[in-house]
Amino acid sequence: MQEIKIERTTAPKAKPTDESKLGFGKIFTDHMYVMEYNPQQGWHDPKIMPYQEISLEPSAMVFHYGQEMFEGMKAYKCEDGRILLFRPNKNIERANNSNRRLCIPEIPEDDFLNGIKTLVSIDADWIPTRPGTSLYIRPFVIATDPFLGVRPSNTYKFIIILSPVGAYYASGLDPVKIWIEDDYVRAVRGGIGEAKTGGNYVASLAAQMKAHDEGYSQVLWLDGVERKYIEEVGAMNIFFKINGTVVTPMLNGSILPGVTRASCIDLCKKWGLPVEERRISVDELVEAARTGALEECWGSGTAAVISPVGHLRFEDEVMQIADGGIGEVSQKLYDTVTGIQTGKVEDTLGWTVEV
Ligand code: COI
Repeated sequence: MQEIKIERTTAPKAKPTDESKLGFGKIFTDHMYVMEYNPQQGWHDPKIMPYQEISLEPSAMVFHYGQEMFEGMKAYKCEDGRILLFRPNKNIERANNSNRRLCIPEIPEDDFLNGIKTLVSIDADWIPTRPGTSLYIRPFVIATDPFLGVRPSNTYKFIIILSPVGAYYASGLDPVKIWIEDDYVRAVRGGIGEAKTGGNYVASLAAQMKAHDEGYSQVLWLDGVERKYIEEVGAMNIFFKINGTVVTPMLNGSILPGVTRASCIDLCKKWGLPVEERRISVDELVEAARTGALEECWGSGTAAVISPVGHLRFEDEVMQIADGGIGEVSQKLYDTVTGIQTGKVEDTLGWTVEV
C-alpha cells in the first residue's frame, strides 16, 4: 500500500449549522484525495490536499469521449463516536468492474480503501449526525490525456471528494412518484449499463426532465431491446412486493449491480420472505397494480437508501400502490439498513468497516 502525502488546509471552511437543510451533494468538505496514473508508474503519488479546483487541458479526453468512472458510498458517525463505512469492498470491487469495462486501469483495492479511510478521518468533523444524514463519498476517475482521437487514455486522475448530505429526494422518506419510460432507453445489453459512469446518467436526462414536468421524481427504465422488461431507476434499483413475494429485476448486463440492492435481497431472505430475481414485464406490473397484487414498491441505492414508491405511471395510467404510503417491508428495510449503517442495529452480517 502506498503512503499518502497529506497537506492540511490552513483555511477551514464553515461547516453547515443546520443539518436539516443539507440536501444532497451541494456542500463539500475541506479536503480531497488525488492519485495519478501513467503507464510507467501505474497508480502513484496519492495525496490528500485542500479541496480545490483541478486544472486540465481543454483537450483532456474525459471532456470529449466521457471516459470516466464514479462510485457512491457513505460514512456514518455512531453515537459511541465510531465512524462506519457500509460494505466499502463491494463498491471498490464494482469500481474496478466499471474500470475494466471502460478501459481504465484498475485501482489497487488497498490504496482505494486507505484513501477513503484517511480522507474521511481527516474530515471526520464534517460527518453530520442528524437522523437521515451522512457523509457522502464520491470517488471518481477521469481520463486526462490531451488528445482528440478515440482510444483509451494513457493517463488518469483518481479523485475522492466528500459531501455532508441529507435525503436524496426532497421528499425524504415520503413515497416518490415514478414514471415508467416507454420512449427513451437508458442502456442496452452489451453496452455500459452495468458500469457506473456518467454516460448512463446523461442518457437519462431528457426522460427525467419530461417526467419532472409531469410531477414525477424519477424515471423507471424498460430494457433497451424489447422495451418490455423493467430494469432500474438510474439513481436506484427497484423492488416490488407482488402477492407476498419480493421481486426485483435480475442483473442482465444493463442494470447497475447496487450494493444496497444486494443488501435488501440478503435481508429479505434472512427474514424468510420469498425473493425472486427475474425478468418482470411492464404488462405483469400493470396487471399486478390493477388487481391489487402489487403490495409494495421501493427503490434502493446509496444516495436514495430505501425510497418507497407510492405511484407509478405507465402511458396514460397512474397506479397508486396500496394506500400510496410507506409499505411494511420498505420501512423495515430502511430501519434495518440505516440502523446497521449508524451502529444502532447489531451488524450480524459483518457489513460495516470502521474508519
Ligand atoms: C448513488 O446512489 O451513490 C449514486 O451514485 C446515484 C446518484 C444518482 C446519486
